[in-house]
Amino acid sequence: MNRLAPSILSADFSRLGEEVKTIEEAGAHIIHVDVMDGHFVPNISFGSAVMKSLLGKTKLPFDVHLMITDPDRYIKDFVTENTEIITVHQEACIHLHRTLQMIKSHGVKAGVSLNPATPLFTLEYVFEDLDYVLIMSVNPGFGGQKFIPSALEKIRKLAVMKAQRNPDLIIAVDGGITLENVEDVVGAGANLIVAGSSVFGAPDVKKRVQDFLALL
Ligand code: DX5
Ligand code: ZN
Repeated sequence: MNRLAPSILSADFSRLGEEVKTIEEAGAHIIHVDVMDGHFVPNISFGSAVMKSLLGKTKLPFDVHLMITDPDRYIKDFVTENTEIITVHQEACIHLHRTLQMIKSHGVKAGVSLNPATPLFTLEYVFEDLDYVLIMSVNPGFGGQKFIPSALEKIRKLAVMKAQRNPDLIIAVDGGITLENVEDVVGAGANLIVAGSSVFGAPDVKKRVQDFLALL
């Protein structure tokens, strides 16, 4: 099943609970949580306390995207009853294999994200350990950027590796996804679609989620 993961980075933080309720009622599958530290990426978003404020307010699982240096120090803070996936950046991990095992030791799915310039072969020796790969289709740090088309070829190649070596792998794509290009990324092999500004920036968020779901 293909899933839609609205990113709360583009939500109205003063009404976060209501925003999440709206996407849940509209049928979104999972909440994408963008954590930025101002070091790994040139922007600061929010930390685990904001994510935890949603506990008990939504049944949707959390897809945690850590855009931070030294993620090992913070992984535990993001493990909650709603947390399905924790993703670290390949570029931020010196001991990626160890970090993935640490995530799994908490009983959540382990993911790795690749920046647009980072090749798939950096995952060669951990590929069978992965539950999830997040292909960045923008340079991480900000919502509302334009989709970088080379992500499509990367997703296609990853889908081939998945079929050969890790059939349960979740392939996610993140950045610049709109109603106009979502069918292209799904066609390339992505099965978890992250969308921030195109969901929460819409005049009618509920309708926008439903329009996305119709294209998955
Ligand atoms: C970018 C974040 C994305 C962001 C996507 O650094 O990882 O998840 O929220 O936003 P849009 O969909 O607006 O590109
Ligand atoms: Zn993200």
